[in-house]
Amino acid sequence: MRIYTYLAFVCLLLLSSCAKQNDSGSKEDQFVNDLMAKMTLQEKIGQMNQRTSQWEMTGPAPDKENTQNLQEEIKNGRVGSMLNVKGAKATYEAQKLAVENSRLGIPMLFAYDVIHGYKTMFPIPLAEASSWDTDMLKLSAQVAAKEASASGLHWVFAPMMDVGRDARWGRVMEGCGEDPYLASIFSVARVRGFQGADLSKDYTVAACAKHFAAYAFSESGRDYNTVDIGTYTLHNIVLPPFKAVAESGVATFMNSFNLINGSPASTNAYLQRDLLKGDWGFDGFVVSDWGSIEEVAYHGGAKDLKQAGELCINAGSDMDMENDAYLPYLEELVNEGKVAESLIDDAVRRILKIKYKLGLFDDPYRYSNIEREKELVYNKENRAAAREVAKRSMVLLKNENQLLPISKNVKSLAVIGPLADSKDIPLGSWRAQAITNSAVSLLEGITNALPKTKINYAKGCDLTIGERNFRVELTYGKNNQSGFSKAIKAAKQSEVVVLAIGEDCFQTGEGRSQTDIRLKGDQMALFNAVYKVNKNIVVVLMNGRPVAIPELAEKAPAILETWFAGSEAGNAIADVLFGDYNPSGKLTMSFPRNVGQCPIYYNHMSTGRSLSSGNVFWSHYTDSPNTPLYPFGYGLSYTKFKYSTPILNKTSIGKAESIELSVNVSNAGNLEGEEVIQVYIQDPAAKYVRPVKELKAYKKVKLAVGEQQTVKFELSKKDLGYYSPDGEFLLESGTFHIFVGTDSQNVQKVSFTVKD
Ligand code: NOJ
Repeated sequence: MRIYTYLAFVCLLLLSSCAKQNDSGSKEDQFVNDLMAKMTLQEKIGQMNQRTSQWEMTGPAPDKENTQNLQEEIKNGRVGSMLNVKGAKATYEAQKLAVENSRLGIPMLFAYDVIHGYKTMFPIPLAEASSWDTDMLKLSAQVAAKEASASGLHWVFAPMMDVGRDARWGRVMEGCGEDPYLASIFSVARVRGFQGADLSKDYTVAACAKHFAAYAFSESGRDYNTVDIGTYTLHNIVLPPFKAVAESGVATFMNSFNLINGSPASTNAYLQRDLLKGDWGFDGFVVSDWGSIEEVAYHGGAKDLKQAGELCINAGSDMDMENDAYLPYLEELVNEGKVAESLIDDAVRRILKIKYKLGLFDDPYRYSNIEREKELVYNKENRAAAREVAKRSMVLLKNENQLLPISKNVKSLAVIGPLADSKDIPLGSWRAQAITNSAVSLLEGITNALPKTKINYAKGCDLTIGERNFRVELTYGKNNQSGFSKAIKAAKQSEVVVLAIGEDCFQTGEGRSQTDIRLKGDQMALFNAVYKVNKNIVVVLMNGRPVAIPELAEKAPAILETWFAGSEAGNAIADVLFGDYNPSGKLTMSFPRNVGQCPIYYNHMSTGRSLSSGNVFWSHYTDSPNTPLYPFGYGLSYTKFKYSTPILNKTSIGKAESIELSVNVSNAGNLEGEEVIQVYIQDPAAKYVRPVKELKAYKKVKLAVGEQQTVKFELSKKDLGYYSPDGEFLLESGTFHIFVGTDSQNVQKVSFTVKD
């Protein structure tokens, strides 16, 4: 009897929770349907229109005439969303225009590029990815969401999940690197950080998966250039991260500027309607990129703006970002029968639902709270989080004779280089509301950490000269070695030299591609001049892409990759230099030896001629090895890790079974440390040829001195299979190899069979 009462109780609970879900779903639907029933077609189209504010522009400047009437347009309910309005006060005022004047008082959505922090800058995304630590990625997004949402923003244009293989492309700094598996799990972590579990809660913002799709494959790494990849690469490399975030509930998607298979991505119905909104069940909305509708005509894919708008709405682009294509033409297109009104309804329903989820219909001003903004933005706690993430994002590339960590008892230390005292470059190029020159410089960080040491500082040379900001082209300092003598003197007078060189942050980011990824200007000459007088050089690299540094790699005894580490850069770098934190980062993009190797990536295919033939007729360069300078997954620690021989629990499995791999890893050095144990697979004989290696799992473990741990990994169909060029998921029988190790090259191999 008791069991029946219990079962009845459980049923009741289940029923009431289902009822709640249905109820909340239907409330949202009902609200949106009721509202839409009151809207005119023009008002609906207004919701699909996004305009930039004039305070800041993150794309080509809009035509003046178009912007003059912006306030009137808002008052007339013809602007559903704005980008680049930020701050509690400004967003409050802009919102008031819409809510108090437009006929239906529908609140606007405020969006902004919050790529690695709002005012507290975190490391650039490529750096954060190097932590291989989803908690860190989530934390960074959470803090950014807290600051952005307190400043009136509802929606961030992040995360970017374009898998980037070409270091020339300036936007690799915004992504997770060259691997689709990492881009998937890291982007999901970021989405969770931004959105939390419930968008209606404080401190959360809607995220945006971008750029859909294949934007990073621009030919020769030049931004906005043509993309021409096959559907095999599309399904296996480009799309998996997008699918992962769609399934994890990301609120919005942004399409991309590039061509796919001969048509602009914003006109691609297969991607936006069939896959995203169809197969993947995405119920949010798609925003165009800035101008990606207008540019359809410039690509030659439409005869004019009106036709571009027609193609884009039909293909599933719901919101028009700064193209001025939907507002003037959509009604006409509906009347001409070229666009079904149901598509407009679908787009508007999606947009209104996100507004509903964000709680804007309960209180349109709830994000614009001046008190909360003062309390939450750029506070101590956020900066502490930024320091934590930054130190975990650094990658130790070289450490001969254990030059690092430097003892805190060092008597004299030279701090040299054009980036050593920069309070600006560590902020990165997508810096949102960061205050110019607000980062802790390396020199400051070192001085904070070593109050008793004699610090000999010398800039040595300039990296850039003249104006530098995120819209202008940079001019690099060249052949001016007048600062070298001071640098040489500082090096001579010091036990150890810390040399900070690399890139200006504005060498990377949107619109900043490069054909030469060596260090610019006089930086290598400075290194050589200093190296001549003091060999104890620790090179601190700051850069936003893999750089070509073969000479440094050969000569410098220690190299620490610190990327653009954000507001707390100097303190975080000092944490690593002086051993308060043992570096644990691993590269998520291969470092080429020279630009000619680009694009270079670990998960490439085997060629028909991959092995040296003893003559020239094999796939190689005659002036450079094929291998990268530093491979994917690479990064050293101050301690040493030992791997046992990996063991599989079976020699063969059926297609529905899984296989378990175990490996014992021990800390054989003298310091506590963290290791990223990486698991790659290869399907060496497949219907469609598979890459030589694919990352399928990893674990980051912390081990005390002498500690060991047996780490287990389970691989199943989802890890062993792949997509055909038509997008069909296949798992074939046959031999599989598993590689486990500390990076993509340093691995041990075991094999097993998948049976039919
Ligand atoms: C263009 C960029 O491609 C995109 O990533 C960004 O979000 C928009 N501009 C808005 O600034």
